[in-house]
Amino acid sequence: MPPRAWPVRLSPIAFGGDYTPEQWPDAVRREDVALMREAGVTAVTVGVFAWAMLEPAEGRYTFGWLDTVLDRLAEAGIAVDLATPTAAPPPWFSTTYPETLPVARDGSTLGIGARESFCPSSSRYRDAATGIARRLAERYRDHPALAMWHVNNEYGAHVAGCHCPESERSFREWLRTRHGDLDALNEAWGTAFWSQRYQDWAEITVPRVAPMPVNPAQQLDFHRFTDDEFRACFRAERDAIRELTPDIPITTNFMATACPRMDYWRWADEVDVVANNHYLVAEDPEGHVELAMSADVARSLNDGSPWVLMEHSTSAVNWQPRNLAKAPGQLRRNSLTHVARGADAAMFFQWRASRAGAEKFHSAMLPHGGTRTRVWHEVTALGSDLSALREIAGSRVTAEVGMLWDWESWWALELEYRPSIDVTYLDAVRRFYAALWRRNETVDFVRPGADPSKFRLLVVPSLYLTTPTTAAVLRTYVEGGGRLLVSFFSGIVDEHDAVHPGGFPGPLREVLGLWIDEFHPLPAAAAVHLDPAPAADTRSRLRLRATVWSEEVVCEGAEVIWRFADGPDCGLPALTRHPLGAGAAWYLATRPDGEGVDRVLDLVLADAGITGGRTPEGVEAVRRASPLGSYLFLVNHGPVDTTVPGGGVDLLTGERWADGVRVPAGGVTVVREDRTADGDTHR
Ligand code: GLA
Repeated sequence: MPPRAWPVRLSPIAFGGDYTPEQWPDAVRREDVALMREAGVTAVTVGVFAWAMLEPAEGRYTFGWLDTVLDRLAEAGIAVDLATPTAAPPPWFSTTYPETLPVARDGSTLGIGARESFCPSSSRYRDAATGIARRLAERYRDHPALAMWHVNNEYGAHVAGCHCPESERSFREWLRTRHGDLDALNEAWGTAFWSQRYQDWAEITVPRVAPMPVNPAQQLDFHRFTDDEFRACFRAERDAIRELTPDIPITTNFMATACPRMDYWRWADEVDVVANNHYLVAEDPEGHVELAMSADVARSLNDGSPWVLMEHSTSAVNWQPRNLAKAPGQLRRNSLTHVARGADAAMFFQWRASRAGAEKFHSAMLPHGGTRTRVWHEVTALGSDLSALREIAGSRVTAEVGMLWDWESWWALELEYRPSIDVTYLDAVRRFYAALWRRNETVDFVRPGADPSKFRLLVVPSLYLTTPTTAAVLRTYVEGGGRLLVSFFSGIVDEHDAVHPGGFPGPLREVLGLWIDEFHPLPAAAAVHLDPAPAADTRSRLRLRATVWSEEVVCEGAEVIWRFADGPDCGLPALTRHPLGAGAAWYLATRPDGEGVDRVLDLVLADAGITGGRTPEGVEAVRRASPLGSYLFLVNHGPVDTTVPGGGVDLLTGERWADGVRVPAGGVTVVREDRTADGDTHR
């Protein structure tokens, strides 16, 4: 895969945020540019929700204010990520064309006065959105500030799908293309069940509120359709812009781990560079681990090349139940963790805190209290840090562990009527991710069906929907010497949510060397325990605890490593290993707690020959490397100063660390590592 190009006019490490001059008088706008310079801002996103200010009435454009803003930014040497304003259609548009408003599943029309009020299938909306995008491109194609295009904003974040008549017609067309004829659709959807057989395309509806769960295959196709429709909106704007500015990269901002509705693997095929937004769940004590996971997903979507952190927050957000402010130093740890994990940009929502509107309590680079605030001081300090880190731009992160990540399986896994509501996709992924994070084992996420052979270990958390193609890739991987770890509730259904013939785990049965007689999900709060097999004497028992799931595994070639010590499957396999070809496939039939996952990984990583780089507890270590050097990022999430083995030049302080690198409590250290005589870095 050729590396993706970095948007050349966006200097790395890009630093700035969403800038909304349309909310402010001119005196404030002038001050903005001066303060941006003071903070070391290099790039801003302009115009995201400014449609009403750019086209106040149909066909009447008022670009003058934006001309001035862009000219001033260009003069100040600040690059512009110019947004199309199409995520917020103005009131005149929605009231003139009410058919463009999205309709919820219960048939109610979503109103105006917020944002994202558009139906992704509406041709009227698409034409208008493409029209304003083209106008912007015509006007600013040669503007010196223009560095990148930012189309729309977080597609699919707030509208789970539109249920209006136009969407329904498009859905039928989409189904015709996908299934060909009604017989094929009836077969794929299993419509013999509950008398759902369709005789005419006109009988098919988008999923509506119904007395019982709507056909799961229909719901899954509706998910795919919605994702495709939003992507078609993006493509329409992108292509219009590209025609006029073929050399300016075009992106849209993703919510890698936070938007279950978009299949970002497909989106990544459409953008020139991946841009991601990330917000901490402030009350999550392990929010920084989830942050790392989001960053790793973003990097993986961008094929490992440097990606753009388009938005994160300097402190509190405004949309959680309790919006906790970030503690001193947390902003720096958060931003530099994204950079450690491959971002060549650290951008925020937003530059200046809004006085009015729904987001006035959202933090910003420039808070309501102005330049005397703690946040402002932390922001300007971050600007200096990022400037000191310039030489790491373009360097890449490498990982020995891959983890399969699949949005379609996520959609299917969380439909109604599953064996247990306690099985959720993010929980399944995050348990393994967190255990790998604790060992500083960097993870790349892998698209289903992609070749994972560069990884020594591939983890496959609860891949409920597994296609024969994905299963074949996994088998080839193991036969070729890879180590595979699959967790429960994998290999269950095909792409139409139909159970694979022959029972569980369907196409994974041969690679795992086992089959499953029956699922035995556990009651809420119940636990089971796990022991090594054969059970040794009581003193050496592991007695690890697991919750949520137990099942009856029957081995067909796999060796039993651990057994259930109690519960519905007492004495039966809980962890197995199946040697196959030059590799081995592991299977975990339950959901161990944190310590249990650590012990599973002890075994599996050792089997894969991965030794890892341990650091003191709470110190996160990630490496980026380029021909210029190897850069070790150390992020200390703990309350005590600590020293990590190694040496090199501290890029943030200029200090030379010879015998161990110091990382202050709550701080971040980045070193250009010394090389040994044979060119290796210390590990
Ligand atoms: C998202 C949006 C922003 C803003 C922030 C608030 O990321 O893209 O416009 O609403 O959330 O956290």
